[in-house]
Amino acid sequence: MTLWQGRFGGSQQSEELKAFTDSLSFDRRLAHDDITCSRAHVLGLQRSGLLSEEEAGTLLAALSKVEEEIAEATFVFAPGDEDVHTAIERRVTEIAGDVGGRLHTGRSRNDQVATDLRLFTKRSLMEVGRGIIALQEVLLNRAREAGDAYLPGYTHMQRAQPVLLAHHLLAHGWALARDVDRLAATRRRLDISPLGAGALAGTSLPLDPDWVARELGFSARFENSMDAVSDRDFVAEALFDLALVGTHLSRLGEEMVLWSTEEFGFLHLDDAYATGSSMLPQKKNADIAELARAKAGRLIGHLTGLLATMKGLPLSYNRDLQEDKEPLFDAVDQVERSLAAMAGLIATATFDTQAMARAADGPTTAAADLAEWLVQKGMPFRQAHELVGAVVRDSFERRVPLPELVAAHPALGGDAVALLEPGVPVSRRTSPGGAGPGPVASQIEKFAAVLRADADRFGVTKGAGPGQHSARSGSHQHGSRGGGREQHGSGPEPGFAGQAVPEPDGPGQESPGQASPGQASPGQASPGQASPGQASRAGASRPGGPPPEGD
Ligand code: ARG
Repeated sequence: MTLWQGRFGGSQQSEELKAFTDSLSFDRRLAHDDITCSRAHVLGLQRSGLLSEEEAGTLLAALSKVEEEIAEATFVFAPGDEDVHTAIERRVTEIAGDVGGRLHTGRSRNDQVATDLRLFTKRSLMEVGRGIIALQEVLLNRAREAGDAYLPGYTHMQRAQPVLLAHHLLAHGWALARDVDRLAATRRRLDISPLGAGALAGTSLPLDPDWVARELGFSARFENSMDAVSDRDFVAEALFDLALVGTHLSRLGEEMVLWSTEEFGFLHLDDAYATGSSMLPQKKNADIAELARAKAGRLIGHLTGLLATMKGLPLSYNRDLQEDKEPLFDAVDQVERSLAAMAGLIATATFDTQAMARAADGPTTAAADLAEWLVQKGMPFRQAHELVGAVVRDSFERRVPLPELVAAHPALGGDAVALLEPGVPVSRRTSPGGAGPGPVASQIEKFAAVLRADADRFGVTKGAGPGQHSARSGSHQHGSRGGGREQHGSGPEPGFAGQAVPEPDGPGQESPGQASPGQASPGQASPGQASPGQASRAGASRPGGPPPEGD
């Protein structure tokens, strides 16, 4: 059954049309949000006097039944169901009888799908945010336990200056903190209900889009009905945010690949987070890190693909916009899985801090310290740079150890040689935000505070929970790991009764028993979504059984 057969009489759709225009295969993932949207719409129709209390009750009961069927996977999609909206309306009508014909009053699939997708995106960005926070917690724990361990910091992939391992790990952590902030900002901008925009122009019926917006947990309704049904900025923006998370993960992944090579030898992967070779028995590969590096390409592709689809698209709704869903769904899944896998890899890896120190202790990485020491003696920096550069060149050309030349140099001498001792250069990185123990200690505290605030605004709850997956603890020179395990707030999806989660950008307006935007959808967890070293988000139970997503 289509929703538009009146205009077409008895004529049959071609198989080609059905195969080509189908969206049910992927938009069934919106079933839950579609039901949430329909519930609010029914209540709105009742408020406006377009449905009697009894009719509204019958429709709400039918929607609940459909929801149950979907949750229990007993919902049967019919061959004629064009999309999830058609399927749900058909089934509601089968259950509710004639009153089902009133469900779509004053509504179009155009405002409906836009509403569904905004609900989905709001929630998904919260979930991704929690996934990022879980990885940041791992980075923070590893940074704390790294103590004074140091490694070479690189520029141009050449050893530059020693940096604390904690500093290096938190460099990735701060990039992820900006990602979390971006997700919150995107989520705030997309928090607008399109429901009531109709096909493109609103309706002659006395609907109240403000009321349904509040009912759905949105902070406001649309201002322009044409914009409401044709805007997919929010998807593009979410895809950008996800592509940037993917880009950050690719940089982290690349370093984990490098560090785990025999050439670097900075890191040993836990067996549970490494793969072998089918032919080469000795191999232990960092496939997780490689895939985390690779996914960025796919995520950037999703963003550019959608922008290309939107470019030049006339107002208002066009079927082109159906192409928004698959990239978004895939981007969310890929990023969530990358985050979880990378969190596990890093939580369980063993850092070889001796190999790191060996690589960092080459005396040339203290060259800047020699120059700065001369500056403190009053020499202009340019002259000091020249002088030390010449000594380094001399050391390479004549193959004389640098400390010997420094000791013999009239401007340098014994005090300067002390700067070349292992561990000394990093201890001299004292400037705020710098790579030495002093500034890193305060950086760690600041990072922890930002992380706590983000955990709060993304509804991450503390404490061990069901389904917790313990990170396997590899041996390490710097004490225990995996402290501060946290359970990620997992709660009901919008539409299910449950605790409201704070909005990442200030207090949200949640209708009781209504949308709890951004709550995690346990059971919806992608494979590998358990956050090692953290509680699994897949472990908690969800009222009403498994959600439709991920079907
Ligand atoms: N599957 C469609 C989409 O995703 C639903 C909206 C269809 N609207 C229409 N006028 N054909 O965009």
